[in-house]
This record gives sequence, C-alpha cells and structure tokens, in this order.
Amino acid sequence: THVVTENCIKCKFTDCVEVCPVDCFHEGPNFLVIDPESCIDCTLCVAECPVNAIFPEDDVPAGQENFLAINAELAPLWPVIDRKIPAPPDADEWDGVPNKLPLLER
Ligand code: F3S
Repeated sequence: THVVTENCIKCKFTDCVEVCPVDCFHEGPNFLVIDPESCIDCTLCVAECPVNAIFPEDDVPAGQENFLAINAELAPLWPVIDRKIPAPPDADEWDGVPNKLPLLER
C-alpha cells in the first residue's frame, strides 16, 4: 500500500484523489488517508501531491512509520473522496512545518 504522511496535515490539496483508479482516499477534517485494503500500489498519486506527502509503505520517511497505522485506522472511519476540493486557504503556509501530528483532527 501507499501511505499519506505528516505533511498532508493542514495542506490537504486533494490533487491525489483525482488520479486514484480505485478510490482509496478517505477524507478527514484536515488530512487524507489511503485505505490499505483498497490501494493497488499504482503509484499515480505520488507525483500529484504538491507537498510530497505520499510514500510507498516500505519507503516512508524515518520517524513517520506511525502513519501506516494512522492510515489503516482512519480509512474505515472517514468517507471516500474522489474529486478535488479547494485546499485550505492557508495550505501553503503549512508545507514543511514539522511536528504537525498533534494538529491532526479526527
Ligand atoms: Fe494531502 Fe497531498 Fe493529497 S496534501 S490531500 S496527500 S495531494
């Protein structure tokens, strides 16, 4: 599976969802996750994310391994999103900000 990692938090650009052939993205208040049960590892979403938040599970950045469990936990709880929506107005300001995990809304 592929995994949405920390830099998506409060950026949530949603370009990724447009290319997903299996609609495996699920939308939370300020973050998206990939359903590991649905992802087919097509890799198309990786290049779409303007803040490089999506990685294959075996190449997640050091220190962000916990996002595998976060994606798996939240995907069943959140609705599928398959169309791009406007990003938060301050999304650009959150690109690359460290330690955003405490800001993840559930
Ligand atoms: Fe998040 Fe990037 Fe998609 S910011 S919503 S993983 S395009």
